[in-house]
Amino acid sequence: MAKPRTIYRCSACQADHSSWFGQCPSCKAWNSLEKTQVHKQAVSGRSPGRGGVSVPRARPLPISQVALGDGGEVRLSTGIGELDRVLGGGLVAGSLSLVGGDPGVGKSTLLLMALARLAGRGLPVLYVTGEESARQVRLRADRLGIHGDSLYLLAETDLDLIQDAVQQVKPRFLVLDSVQVMRDASVDSLPGGPSQVRCTADRAMGIAKGLDIATVLVGHVTREGSIAGPKMLEHLVDTVIYFECDGRSPLRVLRAVKNRFGATGELGLFEMGDAGLLEVPDASARLLAERDRDAAGTAVVVAMEGSRPLLCEVQALVGNPGPGTPARHAIGVERARVNLLLAVLEKAGLPLMERDVYVSAAGGVRLNEPAVDLAVLAAVASSLHNRPVPPDLAIFGEVGLTGEVRSVTFPALRLAELSRNGFTRAIVPTASAHDPPRGVKLHGVRTVREVLELLSR
Ligand code: TYD
Ligand code: MG
Repeated sequence: MAKPRTIYRCSACQADHSSWFGQCPSCKAWNSLEKTQVHKQAVSGRSPGRGGVSVPRARPLPISQVALGDGGEVRLSTGIGELDRVLGGGLVAGSLSLVGGDPGVGKSTLLLMALARLAGRGLPVLYVTGEESARQVRLRADRLGIHGDSLYLLAETDLDLIQDAVQQVKPRFLVLDSVQVMRDASVDSLPGGPSQVRCTADRAMGIAKGLDIATVLVGHVTREGSIAGPKMLEHLVDTVIYFECDGRSPLRVLRAVKNRFGATGELGLFEMGDAGLLEVPDASARLLAERDRDAAGTAVVVAMEGSRPLLCEVQALVGNPGPGTPARHAIGVERARVNLLLAVLEKAGLPLMERDVYVSAAGGVRLNEPAVDLAVLAAVASSLHNRPVPPDLAIFGEVGLTGEVRSVTFPALRLAELSRNGFTRAIVPTASAHDPPRGVKLHGVRTVREVLELLSR
């Protein structure tokens, strides 16, 4: 006989739902859903849905008649500026977010700090830890100077018990750490597997929407999705945020890759230290702090990260090849882009095809926009010729396959940022070579050859 499974049946209209909701999605009665164990055949319902559990039948409505609730979306500032920026202004009540990243990057620390800030404003918040004991979390909180009676802690992985606790505490902000260890007793598979992960996300969504709680799932996942389920999770949740580091530097980069309530592409910068995560509000200054101004093989680009211009150092090392195919490595910049730029440089007369080439964005950032092309190109040429790029010169522009330099977005913002950071010269696409900020000399370029010519002077 099939194992019984848990469903939530409305005592008013008898509709069955796979997750608990504060309000029955079918008949809109409040607090009417009751947990019931059923065998597959016993499930009632009007239209069969996932797992044999009925899905309430939706009725199409003219868009103007769709209820907005109590006046649109409610945002909660987390009190952490860099996190709010990435979220598009704060957590949205009733939203479900996924915060992903490698183990040890600082997800739990970041969320504990956000919980503490909200609790500090008297809002009840609940942190469910499935990986660490309550004592461990308490010790960490003490170390971070986090106290307070509005921050509730629960060490649990059983979703039924977690749901009970949520109903008891009625938090405004809920964190489930992590999605890989949570389990639904009625799902017959191990925590971390696709069914459990999906079910956890489903039930977390039920909690978020049903009780209007800003809910965050923590996931040990990388952007490439090396662990089962993350891509599926991305579809289910409202917001996907990745917390990244390059494994060497204390810098941590937070970015949204999906946001149903705001723009993606915004970036938040933190530094991990003894006192936890510190925000880095002046990211450009921090990213350039360790630059060796006289070294060959580095160039500074002004990249746009969301709405924010950011000065970053691109480094390149051109080496003599070992036996076999020349090595090509790219960290923080797209490898395919680097290969393309090497081909363009080769065509422009630089002997690179037989050489090993390593390119890296310093500080653990990912530079995935076209404006970075010219900086990669300048860093590679600089390393090849062992000739440093002048330290007061920044560069940005896209490179096309014929070696033409193309204009990029937001040139004025980029120029203002490099000027603010003390740069006095910039190589830019010709179309952007007007209205320089005071004290900045602009060199407009049309082709890669012109760039190489300028850099060799
Ligand atoms: P954690 O938040 O547990 O990472 P995650 O939840 O993403 O797995 O952070 C773990 C790392 O951060 C751990 O290696 C120790 C380091 N850390 C500090 O360096 N300073 C601190 O104040 C804290 C709390 C953690
Ligand atoms: Mg953790």
